[in-house]
Amino acid sequence: MIDVAVLISGSGTNLQALIDNCARDDFPARIVLVISNNPDAKGLERAEKAGIPTKVINHRDYPDRETYDDQLDEALNECGAKLICLAGFMRILDARFVNRWRNRMLNIHPSLLPSFKGLHTHERAIEAGVRFTGCTVHYVNPELDDGPIITQAVVAINPDEGADSLAERILSQEHIIYPQALKLVAEGRVRVVGNKVTIRDADYENLMCVNPKAE
Ligand code: GRF
Repeated sequence: MIDVAVLISGSGTNLQALIDNCARDDFPARIVLVISNNPDAKGLERAEKAGIPTKVINHRDYPDRETYDDQLDEALNECGAKLICLAGFMRILDARFVNRWRNRMLNIHPSLLPSFKGLHTHERAIEAGVRFTGCTVHYVNPELDDGPIITQAVVAINPDEGADSLAERILSQEHIIYPQALKLVAEGRVRVVGNKVTIRDADYENLMCVNPKAE
């Protein structure tokens, strides 16, 4: 059983997916703390409802990124977390912090990385005219939305589809692949070799979520 801290800034639907999976008897991870930089994040209510300790560490209360990240680090060490899941945490973390947690911090991003790093991914994917996009769970490197990829789901973009509809369909895939990735990591089956991940005894047929048609 691995102790995980989840960092959020907003609605926390990915956090909810992790909470729901961690509640299963056979799931090898448990959430020991949820941290938000935003005191109004709806995800905090989700954690409280599940009986998970929460902490607000508001970046506005700190003079610079390094001091803020040190505060995060302290809270994470205090709660005994061995792994961090970023789940819609809208803060860039400084390289020192990221290196301290290298290969122990996961993120979910709503595109097929390395395409469409950064914000407004759905609008940019539609604008670029790509036929497929999706979501990615990866280990976090100091560069934005970068690092060894653990799982991805592919979602087809329908003709004339808007960003809201696409975001919604991708989000439902995020809720599948994030718990999947966490489970693999918690089981100790994920190994980082260079900038790539290898997964021991991977059942790729069930691991890969490909949704070529719109639901
Ligand atoms: C998700 O789309 C995630 O990929 C991105 O931020 C969003 C967070 O959504 N990093 P939620 O707070 O989990 O609902």
